[in-house]
Amino acid sequence: MAFTELLKNSGKLTSSLKVSLSKPLIGYRCVRALHSTSNLGVQEENLETTHFGSRTVPKSEKEKLVGTVFSSVASKYDVMNDVMSMGVHRLWKDHFINKLDAGKRPNSKEPLHFIDVAGGSGDIAFGLLDHAEHKFHDKESDMHIVDINADMLKEGEKRAMNQGKYFNDPRVKFLVQNGETLDEIESNSKDVYTVSFGIRNFTNIQAGLNTAYRVLKPGGIFYCLEFSKVNNPIVDTVYQQWSKVLPVMGSLVANDYDSYQYLVESIQKFPEPETFKGMIEKAGFQSAGYEPLTFGVCAIHWGIKT
Ligand SMILES: C[S@@+](CC[C@H](N)C(=O)[O-])C[C@H]1O[C@@H](n2cnc3c(N)ncnc32)[C@H](O)[C@@H]1O
Repeated sequence: MAFTELLKNSGKLTSSLKVSLSKPLIGYRCVRALHSTSNLGVQEENLETTHFGSRTVPKSEKEKLVGTVFSSVASKYDVMNDVMSMGVHRLWKDHFINKLDAGKRPNSKEPLHFIDVAGGSGDIAFGLLDHAEHKFHDKESDMHIVDINADMLKEGEKRAMNQGKYFNDPRVKFLVQNGETLDEIESNSKDVYTVSFGIRNFTNIQAGLNTAYRVLKPGGIFYCLEFSKVNNPIVDTVYQQWSKVLPVMGSLVANDYDSYQYLVESIQKFPEPETFKGMIEKAGFQSAGYEPLTFGVCAIHWGIKT
């Protein structure tokens, strides 16, 4: 039975996905300024070029440039996230996992097939599997952790080894793949597709969404956590100031000004939530929606493959 059918049967689909779009999670603190003068994102690209932060670069180069950024931050990945979000990324990720509430239900015979794309650190993948086990006693569902960057995947594997869980586990596979194509992932094979703070780095975001649709089974769910657009003018002012300071913080904390500058700019270039919702629908998903978190600093987006 499809994961979304299970949710529907348990009454979970409506409560978990029909979320008030206007109500941010309160209690999370504002962390950074993301609004810029240009929020056009992918729409302003032409056929040969795309953006890399605020620079326009040949599309053929972006993948390599993004690779350099994440290879550079891989070993200090937690530091990067904590600096960028003042630690709030952990709360966002917990909320993301709890709200999705995925796992093989006791009344189901079928384990779930998860894929976490751009999942290098393993944060989301391990969190999802832990949730499934703790809440539903599910020790059968399996996980593909996919990332374009082998250095980031190595960090995830290192974490699995250090925590003594999910390393050399037949249920968990780490795979170097471009999320835009997922060449080694069969069509209609996954129940749950997650991507957290990854999709804004894709050269072609729409291709990534189309591929998410391809690999999901009918009834499968696309679930995405990504920086978004602040929806409160006062918070936005603070936020913009913070985004100016971030590369300097990156330089002090991780000796890496350029990577942090790229990360700030990549957030500014990401489409507005309504635009991104339209892209999810364009890929073929139904019931698309989103929930802004922390005044829209970040948002959860979803869509169902019918
Ligand atoms: C900010 S990290 C997020 C890691 C993790 N999902 C998390 O939430 O902690 C962004 C990740 O996206 C990956 N990435 C960027 N472009 C990608 C692509 N086209 N396909 C797959 N992964 C990609 C990077 O290598 C990096 O590991």
